[in-house]
Amino acid sequence: MRVIVTGGAGFIGSHVVDAYIEKGHDVVVIDNLNSGRKENINKKAVFFEADIRERQALEKIIKDFKPEVINHHAAQISVVYSVKNPELDVDVNVKGTLNLVELAGKYDVKRFIFASTGGALYGEPRTLPCTEEHPVLPLAPYGIDKESAEHFIRIYAGIFGFDYVILRYANVYGPRQDPYGEAGVVAIFTMRMLKGEDCIIYGDGNQSRDFVFVEDVARANVLALDYKPRPDVLPIFNIATSRPTTVNKIFEILKKLTSYDKEPVFEKKREGEVYRIYLSYEKAKKYLGWSPSFSIEEGLKITVEWFKRR
Ligand SMILES: NC(=O)c1ccc[n+]([C@@H]2O[C@H](COP(=O)([O-])OP(=O)(O)OC[C@H]3O[C@@H](n4cnc5c(N)ncnc54)[C@H](O)[C@@H]3O)[C@@H](O)[C@H]2O)c1
Repeated sequence: MRVIVTGGAGFIGSHVVDAYIEKGHDVVVIDNLNSGRKENINKKAVFFEADIRERQALEKIIKDFKPEVINHHAAQISVVYSVKNPELDVDVNVKGTLNLVELAGKYDVKRFIFASTGGALYGEPRTLPCTEEHPVLPLAPYGIDKESAEHFIRIYAGIFGFDYVILRYANVYGPRQDPYGEAGVVAIFTMRMLKGEDCIIYGDGNQSRDFVFVEDVARANVLALDYKPRPDVLPIFNIATSRPTTVNKIFEILKKLTSYDKEPVFEKKREGEVYRIYLSYEKAKKYLGWSPSFSIEEGLKITVEWFKRR
């Protein structure tokens, strides 16, 4: 299949590109290298440095390559930044997605796959684990914009007649995650522990998240290529482990793996952060045939080994 992966130079997108290439697909990567890195891009992919907000540049690539699938991972991913700069978040995460779905319709793309979020959509959960039916109550513009993007995809898929699959990720971690951003406690702690620097925990550390390993997420994107649409199923799937892991637990496991000898530095809880969340993946299991295969211990071990080699 001919597949465009936007954000294919980034953390998750680059693993998706690797998985697609391993399956023999032809892949074009579109990325503006805002947070992505050239060295993440698989050598067998064709790379275009372009911005999803630039309609003309996008149109030329899509017209020439004629993709059967667009897999959309490019995004402004910082929740904190989205609060400070909501317009830019709308520009990239909503208008950028709108550009892509309009062009998907115009150039006869068969399927649109979208990297959405579970963690930032459901807000503070009312029921656990959160299923895809949980009310969408985002706590920041990032979540609002991801939800808007989901609606644009669904509506344009209906208008133009292409299929779509929306994957709502929990907290993804693994090799190539940016350790300098504000997201990704695993990457941040791993890097700081390996350098012998202090690790800050905001609040008491008992807040929990659902941590899913990036290779499992890439596999969900592979399965999404072959998903058979059903009229009775909205193609929106949580990609998660359904297990809560506290930040303290992540700290303890990483501490052992990196032989770190310091205690965490506790600071005031950050406002707007969800306290406890984990997501059900029953729907993905039933309809995509996906379930997570890496335990948190296995995933963290691979991640630490990768950061050490780096
Ligand atoms: N990391 C997580 O835990 C998580 C959880 C839920 C959803 N997601 C979603 O998964 C996707 C990938 O996230 P990630 O963690 O790999 O982040 P990332 O920052 O590593 O990847 C995003 C990529 O998009 C590119 N990009 C940003 N703005 C662009 C633009 N205007 N035009 C073209 N390219 C642009 C960046 O350069 C980068 O390569 C995002 O859509 C994100 O919202 C991530």
